[in-house]
This record gives sequence, C-alpha cells and structure tokens, in this order.
Amino acid sequence: MKIWILGGKGMLANVCAKICIQRDVQFIADDRSLADITDYDQLLQRAKLVQPTHIINCAAYTDVDQAEKNPELAFLVNATGASFVAKIAKLMDAHFIHISTDYVFSGDQQIPYCEEDTPCPLNVYGASKLEGENLVLDIYPNACVLRTSWVFGAGGKNFISSLLPLLQNQEEVHVIQDQWGCLTYCYDLASVILDLMQERGIYHFVNQGVCSRFDIAKEIFEKLQERVFCKRVIPISVTNYVNMAKRPKFNVLGTQKISKKLNNSPRHWKEALGEFFIDAITV
Ligand SMILES: NC(=O)c1ccc[n+]([C@@H]2O[C@H](COP(=O)([O-])OP(=O)(O)OC[C@H]3O[C@@H](n4cnc5c(N)ncnc54)[C@H](OP(=O)(O)O)[C@@H]3O)[C@@H](O)[C@H]2O)c1
Repeated sequence: MKIWILGGKGMLANVCAKICIQRDVQFIADDRSLADITDYDQLLQRAKLVQPTHIINCAAYTDVDQAEKNPELAFLVNATGASFVAKIAKLMDAHFIHISTDYVFSGDQQIPYCEEDTPCPLNVYGASKLEGENLVLDIYPNACVLRTSWVFGAGGKNFISSLLPLLQNQEEVHVIQDQWGCLTYCYDLASVILDLMQERGIYHFVNQGVCSRFDIAKEIFEKLQERVFCKRVIPISVTNYVNMAKRPKFNVLGTQKISKKLNNSPRHWKEALGEFFIDAITV
C-alpha cells in the first residue's frame, strides 16, 4: 500500500500523514506546489512518479465566507480539482477517498442526515463541495466520499483555534448558541479515513453528540477558566452575527453507516476535546 495525500499542508492532511507514520504505512503527502489539483497535467505527471495504490484528497478551498466572493475559485478547486483527482485515481486504479462536508445539506430538518438524504447546500462552499462529490462518484463509482463537519485539531485554522485567542484577550466572548452541528476531532477523522481505505460510496463521520458553538466555547472556557483573561462566555443568536455565507441551522450527520461498517462508534466530542487539550494545547 502506498498512499498519496493531497493538500499536504492542510490540517487534516497533516494528521493523516502522522497516522500513516504511526501505522507504518508508506505515504507521500504533497502540497499545492507539487500537486495542484486544478492542474491536470501536473497532477498526472506527479501521480506517475508517486505510483499510489490509494489517494486521499484533503485539498480544498475551505474558506466558507470568502467562497461567496470567489465562487469560480471555490468551484475550480472543490469541483473541477476533485474531478481531476478522480480521473487520475481511476486511470491508475488507485483507491480514492475524497473528503466532503455537512455543508452539502441545508440544515432545516430536526433529525440527523443520513448518507442517502438529498443535499441542498445553502452557500457557495457547500454547492462547490456537492458538485465535487457528484463529479467524483460519476467519474469513479468505486471512490469513497467521506463527509464530516466542524473539524478541529492542532495546526489548523478552525473554530477552536479562532476562539482561543479571544478567550485569552477578551473579558467577554460572544458565541452563537442557535446553530447546531457536530464537532469532529481531526485525529479521529484521520484514523477513520485510514480504516476506510478499501470502501466505496458515501459515509459520514463526526464525533458523537450535538452541540452549538456556544456549547463548545463553554466547555473550553470551563477547562481553561483559571488560565485565561476571559470572565464570561455569552450566548448570542445568529441573527446578531454577520457572516458572508449563510450557514445551516441544524446540521447533524448521522454516523450509523460508518459505525456498522467499522464496528465502532465515534466517541463523544467532549472526550475528544479533552484529549486534544491534553495532547496539543499549551495556553
Ligand atoms: N475544517 C473543517 O471544519 C471541515 C469541515 C468539513 C469538511 N472539511 C473538509 O475536509 C478537507 C480538509 O480540510 P482541512 O480542514 O484540512 O482544510 P485546510 O487546512 O484548509 O487544508 C486544505 C488544503 O488544501 C490546499 N489546497 C487548496 N487549493 C489547492 C489546490 N488547488 N491544489 C492542492 N492543494 C490545494 C490548501 O493549501 P493552501 O494553504 O496552499 O491554500 C490547504 O493546505 C476538505 O475537503 C474540507 O472541505 C473540513
């Protein structure tokens, strides 16, 4: 087995690489300079050199708000780029895992989304990722699309990495309480990606438990209370917060399918968050 990880400088790609090392699996992680997924010829040349048996596509245009301003670029990377990777994976007969998002859904139902539910994205990022999923599965039906949400981990830009400086520097931190989703620890996600290397079709993976960003901030504040300047975390409504991109209200990905496949349920987000703080954070 030789895994080719694309988007090599990103948060998830970095952790996938770490897990390959832990599991003694051969891999090459390429960033955009060596493997730009929007440059088919470069990608193909590189693939011929790397000769992967498996490809993990972590490369994506991930700035949800900026995507509203740059839809062409979001679609170029998340849809066209993903389709190029699928073509090359098929050509090389390499197994392909493509990472996608809960933002393909609108978040207007009260129960978790399963893999068969009909997507209906609310923003450009979600629409570009959905087009990427569709192209990948059309081109290479043996590919696996893994949807996840609210990913956090060391070294990445995410809700938790943005929250920590606020807790350190502001007396009051205001956080949205009326949008719900599922937190996903990058380490747990990367482990599952490696476990899914032979699968095909769509899967969801998130840590267990539904939460708002306020719930997450409160949990972190309680852990770090003694060590941060912040005195209060205050819940606010999304109606008082201006974001360029519209976000789903209740985006919960159901994980029954993956739990059955791997014979293992995801752990609760609070447990994963606790481990992250023990392992990765020095405030
Ligand atoms: N983070 C989340 O909360 C979240 C939630 C749901 C799904 N996901 C999905 O999870 C996957 C990994 O995300 P992440 O959190 O690890 O994001 P990330 O840290 O932003 O990593 C994405 C990487 O893709 C690279 N990239 C962008 N355009 C590229 C191109 N044309 N060719 C090659 N590489 C390119 C970026 O490189 P540059 O730095 O050079 O731009 C970046 O290193 C993505 O598919 C994302 O949509 C993430």
